[in-house]
Amino acid sequence: MNSRTTLTQYLIEQRRRYPEASGRFNNLILDVALSCKAIARAVAFGRLADMHGHHLHNDVASVNVQGEVQHKLDVYANQTFVDMTATNGHLAGMASEEMQEPWQIPAALPRGKHLLVFDPLDGSSNVDVNMTVGSIFSVLRAPDEVIASGRDVRSEDFFQPGAQQLAAGYALYGPSTMLVLSVGHGVAGFTLDPNLGEFMLTHPDIQIPADTQEFAINASNSRFWEPPVKRYVDECLAGKTGPRGKDFNMRWIASMVAEAHRILMRGGVFMYPRDSKDPSKAGRLRLMYEASPIGFLIEQAGGRASTGHQAALHIKPSDLHQRIGLVFGSRNEVERIERYHAEPQPLNWHNPLFAERSLFMD
Ligand code: F6P
Repeated sequence: MNSRTTLTQYLIEQRRRYPEASGRFNNLILDVALSCKAIARAVAFGRLADMHGHHLHNDVASVNVQGEVQHKLDVYANQTFVDMTATNGHLAGMASEEMQEPWQIPAALPRGKHLLVFDPLDGSSNVDVNMTVGSIFSVLRAPDEVIASGRDVRSEDFFQPGAQQLAAGYALYGPSTMLVLSVGHGVAGFTLDPNLGEFMLTHPDIQIPADTQEFAINASNSRFWEPPVKRYVDECLAGKTGPRGKDFNMRWIASMVAEAHRILMRGGVFMYPRDSKDPSKAGRLRLMYEASPIGFLIEQAGGRASTGHQAALHIKPSDLHQRIGLVFGSRNEVERIERYHAEPQPLNWHNPLFAERSLFMD
């Protein structure tokens, strides 16, 4: 392993495959990386820098478009992405979990060809207890007409299936800070050298093992799960004594970016499936800045990302903040979960009167 390769050198090497490339794409990724370094620094200072707790607006905790209370670091991380990526002429526009509408590059600044979509601080409820959080990002090409006209971006300009992403990645603010990136040609992991302030290539070609004995799901939602998910988890829990014939282990960090990293490092399966907890929501996680970029990385590393019913990367978004059910990780496990979804479901499973241990069933 060549740990003397910097992120910049890696990007230059990758760019050789596209002789016509202008360099703007690489500069955009480097701006994103710079944002992540700034956020890593703020996260590391924690309470020392008064960065813990809720973000207050007129003495009341502010709420984002998802109805979730914003933490100070959510707001800081969002602003950092905006400030560090908007001015260099790479972007036509951007969208974020923390902003209801697309963010326009001010008319006085040059506009570029790319769209940046990000979750500035995933898992931010973990910040106050000093657990791993991260930033997730996705790069799309703006529609030709947007590039040609230089007009303001609209939500629809971002509605591209995850398979069309030019790049996706995340930064992880854990015991060490890492940047994990795919520019559509495998997945590479970089560790921030705190002495040099550089992301160094430490994980050159990340591959997810096809099989696993580790799963991650929030089991407190089990009474809301659909039968295929319940069946899969029950079989894992039955271990050696059940149809799988092997014991499983379970993990739940409640920071999806950290779970994705664990799975990229050693395999596993993550599930936040669609459930019946809140019928107005198609799932917990957001398609454009969580499922698509993480799905892209997982598939680039040989794994699979799915809703259970269809490949996550094939879904064309219809809303910037759309939610979906998501299952990803080791390919053979995700395909098994998809098979369970494809099989005929028991009649009346969605009716609580007929749920297991209900009045109407043994
Ligand atoms: O962005 C949503 C998120 O914070 C994910 O990172 C995480 O997997 C999930 O929510 C945790 O949800 P819950 O609190 O329901 O376990």
